[in-house]
This record gives sequence, structure tokens and C-alpha cells, in this order.
Amino acid sequence: MTNATPSPDPRIAEAVEALRARGFEGRYDCAVVLGTGLGKLADDLEDAIALPYAEVPHFPQPSVSGHPGQLIAGRLERKRVLLLQGRAHYYETGDAGAMHVPIGLLTALGSPPLLLTNAGGSLKLDIRPSSLVIVTDHINLSGGNPLIGDRSERRFVSLTGAYDERLRKKLKLAGVAAGLNVHEGVYVWFAGPSFETPAEIRMAKTLGADIVGMSTVPEVILARYFGLKVAAVSVVTNMAAGIGGASPSHAETKDRASGAAAGLRRLIRGFVGRIDDV
Ligand code: HPA
Repeated sequence: MTNATPSPDPRIAEAVEALRARGFEGRYDCAVVLGTGLGKLADDLEDAIALPYAEVPHFPQPSVSGHPGQLIAGRLERKRVLLLQGRAHYYETGDAGAMHVPIGLLTALGSPPLLLTNAGGSLKLDIRPSSLVIVTDHINLSGGNPLIGDRSERRFVSLTGAYDERLRKKLKLAGVAAGLNVHEGVYVWFAGPSFETPAEIRMAKTLGADIVGMSTVPEVILARYFGLKVAAVSVVTNMAAGIGGASPSHAETKDRASGAAAGLRRLIRGFVGRIDDV
């Protein structure tokens, strides 16, 4: 069995073609997926060019408010950065592989390290809303997997050490340098779109989860499938259902995500600045 990059997918080739035609060329030093309410980082990029997902073949059309859906390329800390502003979630269509083409095309753009960001709920009383959490591992309670239906041997992707240790170290260093209080934790993926019940959160806590969300895990699986190094950061928008009596809502998660975005912006800047030697 080989872990080599999967053979060219015609859908990815078409998407890459569309990007090249719009000036997205060459290799990138880092790619970042920006989650709910976290899109502001795009304002930090110099010499930015943008392309709506709607104009890229085989790209998903995110349906969640706070997820505009566009690719933005530019410079940050003298590095070439590609932002994927907005993502498609499993709960939107029931397709856990909705991000297959956006993640897969990175292999044609120099296979940059990929940083995933998301909004999440905290299962721990000492990880409060507005905190940042570096994801160390995940638990998949969704029942979904983006590789279901793939017939190649490559579908048996190893997820041991999936959250790249060196990238996590860079995130930690960036957090310290920026004076941010950054935690580490295990992310549990529930399918959504309904929030979890307090009983489900109690179960997840017993299983070892620290933060909960409805995204990111399929993208980590796809990134590893495509041979990309990957890391993930959660912005805590709320306490998870039942934790300290919490009852999360979408409005709360959106508001909080924008509020905590300033810290995330500084973390990403520091991370990108340290990316050289990955
Ligand atoms: N549960 C699931 N997804 C989330 C949450 C939550 O509490 N907060 C933000 N995204």
C-alpha cells in the first residue's frame, strides 16, 4: 500500500485551470480555511486577489451566513498565502466530501501546509468563550467520512499524528509571542446542524473531548489523504450544551466568533511568519 499523492482527479484539474486563468499561480507557502465569522483575516493580505467559489468548477457553495465562499491569495509576513474563506459542511448536503476539490487542488499549488480554523463549543470550564484552542486530535461522532465511496487503496488513510506536531509547535510559539492564552484540546465532530444535547456533551466529555464542532474533521481526513500537513485551531464561541447550564445558539456562535477573531488574526500572522522550515 502506498501513501503517495492520489492520481489526478479531473475535477481538481478543472478547478486548478480556473484558478490559473484568474492569476492564482505557482506555489503557496501556506493555506488557511477560515470558519464561521473568521473571514476578517482576508483584510490583512497584501496584493490580494479574490475569486468567488461560484466561479470555480466543482467548488461547493457554502449556505451558512458568515461563510461568503471565496478564495483569496496574497502576501502575509512576506509569505504567499491562500485563504479559503468559507467552507461547506457535512450538514449542508449530507456530503462529507464536499471539500474534496478545494483541499485537493492544494496539491497543484505546491502542497502548502494547511491551517483549518473553526468555531467550537467548550466542554471544559477552564476553556472560556473567546479562547483559542490548538487541536491535538479528534473524535468523529458524525458517522460521516469524506473517503466513503473512494475505491482506491489510499482510502485507508492513517490518522495517527494527523495534527502535525511541528505545525502545532509553531502555533504555540506564535500564541506565546502574541501574548495570547492558547489552549490545546481534542475536537469532537458532531454532524449538526442541530446543536448537541447535554447528554451527548456529557458522553463526549467522558470519551475525552475538550471542544465540539460541526466541521474541520472531514478536511483533516482529506488533507491527510492528499498528503498535506495540517493543523487546526478552534475559536471558542460558547460553552457546549449543558456545561455550566449552557444552551448554545447560532447567533451566539456567530457574534462571538467575530469578537475573538482579532486574537486568531494575530495567531495566524505569527504562524505564517514561522512557516519557512516546515
Ligand atoms: N456545538 C457544535 N458546533 C459548534 C458549537 C457547539 O457548541 N459552537 C460552535 N460550533
